[in-house]
Amino acid sequence: MGEIDRRSFLAASAAALTLAGHAGAAELPALGPLAKAAGLDFGAAVGPWLWREADFRAAVLRDCTAIVPEYEWKWDYLARAGRRPDLQPIQRYLAFAEASGLALRGHTLVWHGAMPPWYPAAAGRREALRLMTGHVTDVVASARGRVRRWDVVNEAVAPEDGEPDGLRRTPLLAQIGRDYVEIAFRAAAEADPAARLIYNDYGLDAPYGAARREAVLRLVEQLVARGTPIHGVGVQSHLAAADGYDGEALAVFAARLQEMGLEFLVTELDVANPGPGPGPGGAPDHEVAAVYAHYLAGVVEIPNLTGIFTWGLSDRHSWITASQRPLPYDGAMRPKPAWDAIADALRRRAAETHRLTA
Ligand code: GLA
Repeated sequence: MGEIDRRSFLAASAAALTLAGHAGAAELPALGPLAKAAGLDFGAAVGPWLWREADFRAAVLRDCTAIVPEYEWKWDYLARAGRRPDLQPIQRYLAFAEASGLALRGHTLVWHGAMPPWYPAAAGRREALRLMTGHVTDVVASARGRVRRWDVVNEAVAPEDGEPDGLRRTPLLAQIGRDYVEIAFRAAAEADPAARLIYNDYGLDAPYGAARREAVLRLVEQLVARGTPIHGVGVQSHLAAADGYDGEALAVFAARLQEMGLEFLVTELDVANPGPGPGPGGAPDHEVAAVYAHYLAGVVEIPNLTGIFTWGLSDRHSWITASQRPLPYDGAMRPKPAWDAIADALRRRAAETHRLTA
């Protein structure tokens, strides 16, 4: 081989190696393909930074099979300017998701925490019904056939409020009555018969959550018994490293849902860790990852599990302060041990699914 040939051969080999390196990097197990192999959705809550931040967007496209708008689809946001909702945020996410091959989870139609500022405190039943069903119908119909799941009602139970059935005391309960949840689900189903309709709540995995679990089960049992179109229950899973959770009670809860033919979803997973620590890669990240790992090890054993969503993807955008390192990526979009914990759990579910279908 002449000197020139040798040089061009070396250059070509180096280029090939670089390419192989890149191809290798591209083939690194992203969460999206693992979730698909496991027959699950993996998703994250996102906000308008999805369009502003290329590194965040790239991680979403690698890791997610579905996204959920963190706040722009809530009633108070859509109707912030008055009674006519601004449906533009709905269209914007639909366009992005469809162009990117992602499914959407709509969050959330009815939640006492996101009532529009103009909502009348003194509405009678008829007006409250008109406002609530009008909102549900307008929003769901604007995305008909294009949203895989809707969180129809969020956080409707609060045993601590003292109602005999455990329902939370909210304006809609007071104004419409105990059937407001059923009415909201029926309105959503009418506006989009293809969407999977979800009831979403927190504290269902908590050691102190027995009364909440019972109240939610009683609520969905009644809905199912009355033929209400409901397809699943979402467990928010806002965990804290110090609090612990009750995985056994959660599995029993999920089994009760399965008996009713309902999906089980993890909808807002994050892990707060207020303890002091050295930061990136240090103790807090490993403590957070250990909670992800243990929690998800139980979750992926749940037969009627259909999806896992984290509440954000990067510590850069979280309702929990970044120093608590709650999410799978750090603020610089570097995957953390929590990311590996999610990947391991999805891999385990995929292997089990494969074993069962082989
Ligand atoms: C609840 C809601 C979410 C979000 C979080 C954190 O869990 O369901 O939409 O607002 O609180 O604020």
